Amino acid sequence: MTGTQGTNLDQWYGHYAARTAGLAASEVRALFAVASRPEVVSLAGGMPYVSALPQQLIETAVERTVSEQGAVALQYGSGQGVPRLREQILEVMALEGIHGSVDDVVVTTGSQHALELLSKLFLDPGDVVIAEGPSYVTAITVFRSFQAETVHSPMDADGLEPQALRETIARVKAEGKRIKFLYLIPSFQNPMGVTLTWERRVEILEIARSEGILVLEDNPYGLLYFDQAPPPAIRSLDEDGVVYLGTFSKTLAPGLRVGWAIAPHAIREKLVLANEAAILSPSSFSQIVISEYMETADWRGQIDTFRGVYRERRDAMLAALQEHLPSMSWTVPNGGFYVWLTMPEHLDSKAMLPRAVKELVAYTPGTAFYADGNGRRNMRLSFCYPKPDFIREGIRRLATVINGELALLGEFSQTAPLPIVPAERDVLPPFAG
Ligand SMILES: Cc1ncc(COP(=O)(O)O)c(C=O)c1O
Repeated sequence: MTGTQGTNLDQWYGHYAARTAGLAASEVRALFAVASRPEVVSLAGGMPYVSALPQQLIETAVERTVSEQGAVALQYGSGQGVPRLREQILEVMALEGIHGSVDDVVVTTGSQHALELLSKLFLDPGDVVIAEGPSYVTAITVFRSFQAETVHSPMDADGLEPQALRETIARVKAEGKRIKFLYLIPSFQNPMGVTLTWERRVEILEIARSEGILVLEDNPYGLLYFDQAPPPAIRSLDEDGVVYLGTFSKTLAPGLRVGWAIAPHAIREKLVLANEAAILSPSSFSQIVISEYMETADWRGQIDTFRGVYRERRDAMLAALQEHLPSMSWTVPNGGFYVWLTMPEHLDSKAMLPRAVKELVAYTPGTAFYADGNGRRNMRLSFCYPKPDFIREGIRRLATVINGELALLGEFSQTAPLPIVPAERDVLPPFAG
């Protein structure tokens, strides 16, 4: 079988590998083009506010990298990553309750790349990944690109529900499918913003252990808490059954493209081989810049600054929702970048998006975060990038759109449905409307 990706205008249409059928442009990606127009308030992307970084300290780190370590920084490096940075990553990890050895750390090109490598190591066509419902859109895309199926298990305000997880696992197993891992974003989840409680972390790990399922713990936002730190990472409870993914993208800068995996020994060895096969070695330059930055700057203080910036933006968004859309419901995140909004039934966030963009506000429709078409009533609202005033204006515009939709629905619900006359419909040209 050949892939279906492409069009008849593409002379290689019939040649793509079957796995490329899963590589449709994501809703987030399509949005970036539209939402980047300056007049649009974008509540869509997950871009950190890098302007809050200390410019001078970054420049110093880059200068020192070139002047003092140029020969190493401009050269190929180890497939596992720069040893000094791996030690510093362990300092970051200690803040999440993880204590390990530098040998356990594999540096990757962002945690997205770690997701790709782990998928390559574990997923055969038809395998199942169990993920929170909803879950991170580009993880779903990666799993799909390896022809694996993402099966969602429900969440509530305390994160993934353990009993529902037991039922999801039983159902998938009864269908004769193989579950390869449980993919979780336990702290300030993307897209819901909720955090898995400590009790549930323990219980879910027990479930995974007893079912023989590897846990993939993806934690880009854990250090970006507003009041109280989230519970320690699941990896702190189990070194054999959990692969942990971390990144400098949200606490420093995504442009550096440096993330990491901390994995059980056997998996770590395979990860290094897969890393080498894919990219030879992660960027020495970026790794050394980060290492220099951590050496010379107050990186913990900088993360505190980010917390303050995002807390203020979260507050602006919640207050604006309360003012303009009091009849909707939404999550209240204690960290991270995202609020998850639930609209009344019959509203469709995906269908509504073009009208929202016309009103100069963008969001990510809930359906982007499900592999199974769910999420129509939901949308993800990001508060990370726009300044508080823009957030308030964005929510005001969004309220205009949602209230307009509700008014329209109200009008139509008073009218009997129009009869469809097949003969009339048939005479319409195929692309009418
Ligand atoms: C849950 C989650 N995992 C992974 C990533 C990818 O991050 P990176 O920039 O480290 O590749 C993101 C980015 O938004 C994310 O939200």
